[in-house]
Formats: sequence, C-alpha cells, structure tokens
Amino acid sequence: MDSSRYVNNFVLELFLRTINIKMKASVSKMYGTPDVFKIEEVTKPIPKHNEVLVRVYAATVTGSDIMMRIGKPYVGRLYLGLSKPKTTILGFDFAGQIVETGKNVTSFNVGDKVFGGTTALGCYAEYTCVNVDDVIATIPENINYQSAAPVSGSAITVMNFLKGLAKIKAGDTLLINGASGSLGTYAVQIAKHFGAVVTGVCSSKNMKMVKNLGADFVIDYTNQDFTKNGKQYDILFDTTGKITFSSCKNSLTKKGIFLSSVVSFPLLLQMMITSLFGKKKVKSSSTGMLSTKVRLNYFMELKELLEAEKIKTVIDTSYPLSQMSEAHKYVEKGHKKGNVVIETNTNYQLS
Ligand SMILES: NC(=O)c1ccc[n+]([C@@H]2O[C@H](COP(=O)([O-])OP(=O)(O)OC[C@H]3O[C@@H](n4cnc5c(N)ncnc54)[C@H](OP(=O)(O)O)[C@@H]3O)[C@@H](O)[C@H]2O)c1
Repeated sequence: MDSSRYVNNFVLELFLRTINIKMKASVSKMYGTPDVFKIEEVTKPIPKHNEVLVRVYAATVTGSDIMMRIGKPYVGRLYLGLSKPKTTILGFDFAGQIVETGKNVTSFNVGDKVFGGTTALGCYAEYTCVNVDDVIATIPENINYQSAAPVSGSAITVMNFLKGLAKIKAGDTLLINGASGSLGTYAVQIAKHFGAVVTGVCSSKNMKMVKNLGADFVIDYTNQDFTKNGKQYDILFDTTGKITFSSCKNSLTKKGIFLSSVVSFPLLLQMMITSLFGKKKVKSSSTGMLSTKVRLNYFMELKELLEAEKIKTVIDTSYPLSQMSEAHKYVEKGHKKGNVVIETNTNYQLS
C-alpha cells in the first residue's frame, strides 16, 4: 500500500471512530436497590491486542448479578470494590457478534456470532470487550442469541456441581430442589444426559415444564415435603439456599452428597465437618473462582450438548436494556422460570 493511501485509510478510520465512540449502557455507580441502574451514553470500549469487541445482543440477569449489584456478601467487595463498584457496567453473560478484533487475535473473526461469560463484566451495554482467553466460543447454528447468553453462568455452574463436585454417573439418584430456575432447568437436562434418575422439586405451576425437560419424578413443594416422604437420593442439589443439610440428611443414601449453590457460613462449616467425619458429605463451590481453563472445558462440552440438542435454554422473559431495574426486581423475587434475558440492541432483530 502506498503511503498516501495508508494515511487516507488511517484518517478515515480515525474519523469513523470519532463519530462512533459512544454507546448506551446500563450503569450502576453504587451498590443498592434495582433503581441504581441508569441508561447512559458512555465511551465505547476499544479492544486490546488480545480482545474482541462484541456487539452484545443478549445478556442475562442471574442471582449472581443481584449479589454484585447489592455488594453482598461483603467479602465479594474485596474483588468488586469496597465502598462502591469498581466496574460500573455489570453483566457477566453475553451473546453477540464480533465487530472488531485486537491485533493479536487469530482464533476469531469479525462477523463471528459468539457467546460466553467475562469476569471483566461490562455486558449490560451495547458493546463489550472480551479477552479471547476468557470463556468465549462461536454460537452453535441451531440456537439464537437469547438461548446462548445464559449458558456460561448457569450451565457451567451445573457442570461444576454435578460433574466436578458430585462425580455424577449413570444410575445415580438425584433430587434437584429448585428445578424450575436457571440452574435447575439446566441441571435436570444435564443430569439426564449423564444417565441419572432425576427428581425435580418445584411449585405446582412449573411441574409440567420440569417433567418435559426430562425429570423422571416431580415433587410439588407446596404440597409435599420431600424430606418427609422416606425416599433417599445419592445426590441432593439445592439451588435455592432454603434447605439445610441437617433437615435432609435422612433423604441421603449412606454415602450421599448434599450440594448447595448458595454459599453461607453454616454451609462452609458443614463442608468442613463432613470432610473430616461421616460418610455423607456437604459440597459447594463458587464457579467464578474456577480457573478459566476448567470453565472453558465445561463450556465446550455444553456447546456440544446444545449442538446435539441434548440440552436447551428455558427463557422466562426478556427485557430491553432500558428496563434493567425491572428485570432485577423480577429476578429478585426468586421465582423465575429458567432465565431472564436482557436484549441490548433492541433496534436489531435477534436471530
Ligand atoms: N455457587 C455458584 O457458583 C453459583 C453460580 C450461579 C448461581 N448461584 C446461586 O444459585 C442460586 C440459584 O440461582 P438460579 O439462577 O437458578 O435462581 P432462580 O433462577 O431464581 O431459581 C430459583 C428457583 O427456585 C425455586 N424456588 C423458590 N422457592 C423454592 C422452595 N421453597 N422450594 C423449592 N424451589 C423453590 C423457584 O421455583 P418456583 O417458582 O417453582 O417456586 C425458582 O424457579 C442463586 O442464589 C445464585 O446466586 C451460585
């Protein structure tokens, strides 16, 4: 390329960047109620050498997003910021299209449809930069942006708990308490994939859905207390944080495992005690603390399951970026069915 063309291209790119440097984002500058979110025009991020710029079409609101918004448990603030959030644009999960690549990126191209989760957050925006060494992959052709977005947070967590912690295997009996939520709906399908015999616990209105996802048995918690029906399970996976190991110890087989996705001090204490004494074990983990390599391995396994239509994402409802507060209020009620999705570029058709 001769030097005048190079200069012209450079000037053109600079001009395009200058007129295209702003984007809309849902910004939260302090910890607090769902009303902390405000739509603002902010500077569009520029990808670093090892990053891609993703035009975000779908993000999600999960229990973890609620905790980050509130800044509790306080220990999380060591990472998020002590008195106010260091990162003012939340949002961990994303699905979208790559519009720019950093100069060292060879694994992705402009135009690729991608999904994943970024520990740098920033997905409650029209654009976000994602490091290509983070959890990111191209979206299987058979699923859309909305169904792709929730996979990296919730479905990886289910793999971490069922495969990683409980070493689930064919024939295991598993009870999932909270089978209709985000973790629960993935857990029913993933456990069936591993050949487990699955009992899902949910409220009356969600029984049919949980059964249709593949559960062998469904218990309506508003009518029956599973801890008192005399049945025992190899694995009890509580996604609600509403039951304790002590209350359902008798519902576990001799070497049964109690899993809880909701970490608390009493749970940590029980984990410690049961790791030393007794055959029944309590286990938990924070998926975000796993190495990127481990999360990416689970993610690629999940991508195959999505491609093979062995699992699917259940969507409760979608909100535009401008209604982030409403989305958070809804999720906070604790009764969503599957996943809540944020549509970030609503003037574009989701495909
Ligand atoms: N440790 C980790 O790494 C990790 C990762 C992701 C999430 N989490 C945590 O895991 C929890 C679950 O997340 P999620 O996104 O799956 O939540 P969610 O989608 O809000 O699911 C909650 C589900 O619980 C059910 N439920 C409510 N009360 C119940 C009860 N008394 N008995 C049985 N089921 C009940 C609801 O079903 P009905 O409407 O039918 O009542 C709802 O579908 C959150 O606290 C989240 O922060 C932890």
